[in-house]
Amino acid sequence: MPLVSAESASAKAILDEHEAYLFPAVKPLYRRPVVIKSAQGVWVTDADGRDYLDLFAGVLTTSLGHCHPAVVARVQEQVATLGHTSTLYVTENQASAARRLNDMTPGDLQKSYFTNSGSEAVETAIMLARVYTGRHEIVALRHGYSGRTALATALTAHAPWRPVPTSASGIVHAASPYTYRSPLGPEASIQEHEDFFIHDLEETLDTMTDGKPAAFFAETIQGVGGYIVPPPGYFRRAAALIRERGGLFICDEVQTGFGRTGGKWFGIEHWGVEPDIMVMAKGIASGFPVGATIARAEIADAWTAKTFSTYGGNPICMAAVEATLHVMQQENTPGISEARGRQVRKGLEALRARHPWIGEARGMGLIQAIELVEGPESKTPSPRKASQLLEAAREEGLLLGLGGLHGQVVRIGPSMLITANEVEEGLARLARACARVDGAG
Ligand SMILES: Cc1ncc(COP(=O)(O)O)c(C=O)c1O
Repeated sequence: MPLVSAESASAKAILDEHEAYLFPAVKPLYRRPVVIKSAQGVWVTDADGRDYLDLFAGVLTTSLGHCHPAVVARVQEQVATLGHTSTLYVTENQASAARRLNDMTPGDLQKSYFTNSGSEAVETAIMLARVYTGRHEIVALRHGYSGRTALATALTAHAPWRPVPTSASGIVHAASPYTYRSPLGPEASIQEHEDFFIHDLEETLDTMTDGKPAAFFAETIQGVGGYIVPPPGYFRRAAALIRERGGLFICDEVQTGFGRTGGKWFGIEHWGVEPDIMVMAKGIASGFPVGATIARAEIADAWTAKTFSTYGGNPICMAAVEATLHVMQQENTPGISEARGRQVRKGLEALRARHPWIGEARGMGLIQAIELVEGPESKTPSPRKASQLLEAAREEGLLLGLGGLHGQVVRIGPSMLITANEVEEGLARLARACARVDGAG
């Protein structure tokens, strides 16, 4: 007997309105989308009153869980005090949120610009690199995802996420350090994969740019791409290559920031590399719309032309940033992610041993995924199995994410305050969902 039955009249009415009045591009997951009414911690309740354990956190965004009481209280206080200013005025909230980012980020990153989304934060980073270097060309990575604005779409290297041609953007793409699907095959060592992908980047810089690139831009773990973790020396060598050519290294920590990767505040810190510019969003405000671009002071100071954001640095959003970062520091989200991430990974490896259509379990901390294949002998990506698993998990009252170029990767990225018991419960539901997929054939 499925735990989730047909939706009620009110859920149906909401779905009908959604379909009638929104772009079809506002496309929810699932054959029968989940109509969410409320949420608390790692639990989400739909319009029919059914509860789901949320292991995807609104795409790794409700970093402290849904409606964390400290964030709710701080935002409620702020909304009744000062709701809007624009970037034409100074507020304590914006200045102190920026100071916290300076404290938490690696190296000499010091000055921030706040916007409303990851896409805008990416745009700001690319424009800043071009302003500072006086150069235009950007090298990004295939399988990367950077957002939905024109420039962010041009950085994104997944055909399904590109509604219009992006060829005039001054952006070229090197191979993604995707070891599972490396042309070298599974026999190659990690060092050989690393050498291969670095060679590809070097050749891209030397053959597809004018040799004077403005920046190398990369996610530290490719998120939408399917949680692609690079070989350990990749970023150290990539940053050295771009700097030899006079360009900057921009890292995108939109999915990987604030402890998500376990043990460190930011993904790039695992490899001892200090970026010139860093992009953040999602988990920074536990669900409030904030993007941030932080840069070395000398680089930020180069932007002297006018720029303005109506909602950037909004006092309510900055209050959410402040409350979120305060709780993260108090609770030590990098430490929790490390411990809970180990637990999730152990569970995923056990499932991989049981189900030959799970090709690989990968990730760091609480950014963990399984890549599904037609297997056991074939590595052909299986979006079919991935969507079966997503639907089966929904039947078990479990929310997961999808990713990968073909939609063949099932992604996990819950609240970083998830407890060991909640992880255990999630893994039990996932195991039952996997058994349902076996049953479906
Ligand atoms: C790595 C990365 N960068 C940028 C973005 C764009 O963020 P937003 O959707 O807030 O515009 C995303 C969104 O998923 C992302 O994953």
